Amino acid sequence: MVVVLLGPPGVGKGTQAVRLVDDLSAAHVSTGDLLRAARREGTELGNLAQGFMDRGELVPDDLILDLVKEHLIGIGASRDVIFDGFPRTTDQATGLDVVLETSGRKVDTVVLFEAPDDVLVQRLSGRRSCPDCGAVHNAYFSPPAVEGVCDRCGGTLQHRADDEPDTVKRRLQVYLDQTAPLIAFYEDHPGTMTRIGADRDVEAIYAEFNSAVTGSSEGVS
Ligand code: AP5
Repeated sequence: MVVVLLGPPGVGKGTQAVRLVDDLSAAHVSTGDLLRAARREGTELGNLAQGFMDRGELVPDDLILDLVKEHLIGIGASRDVIFDGFPRTTDQATGLDVVLETSGRKVDTVVLFEAPDDVLVQRLSGRRSCPDCGAVHNAYFSPPAVEGVCDRCGGTLQHRADDEPDTVKRRLQVYLDQTAPLIAFYEDHPGTMTRIGADRDVEAIYAEFNSAVTGSSEGVS
């Protein structure tokens, strides 16, 4: 099964993806996480991506498609895959279709998470991420037991540079201009698309999300 998660920055794609990935033992492909790892490792891709990410703009499609293709080789064709934050343009979406077709696969389910901009801005201003284990906390909604320290691994929590207010504003505009057109693309695409209101409690969203993807309410914890 191939699942695509769509939605604006801060809507909770990563938070929900991690839970489903655990429940399905699926592979989690977050292009944002892959790009941040490339930056930390100082690879050529990481260096090329840095300016785009810091400005809140999209990294060019050809770099992203190469990154995803390479990553999929390591995952194998039989494993369930949850794409989080990819595709983000119609060229990336058509590129994904071509890549999946080579292994007889297709996008089965698209889930669109939606929430008002003021909710997104507040979530991003409070987000604290662990660079060591990838856990995500929130200063307002899910604070760590000890301020600044990751509950999961004890690492030092960071506020992402692109979560600063001006960059968030830019990211929201980029989403509207370049990624929102994918909603119409996937409405006309074979497979199902489900819209989920994400201005709610994480558990309530997850129950609906799990059911949209698996077709059952089992496995919801
Ligand atoms: P990326 O890392 O993908 O960022 P994003 O899509 O902007 O998404 P976020 O990670 O900001 O938000 P999220 O929806 O995952 O929310 P989260 O679960 O963390 O991309 C970063 C950059 O990389 C891009 O700007 C671009 O430059 C580049 N890039 C990446 N992919 C690319 C691509 N395909 N093409 C081109 N460029 C690409 O939640 C946010 C906060 O809210 C957290 O603190 C969380 O704890 C909290 N929260 C979550 N759900 C709830 C809830 N229900 N109630 C209360 N709080 C909640």
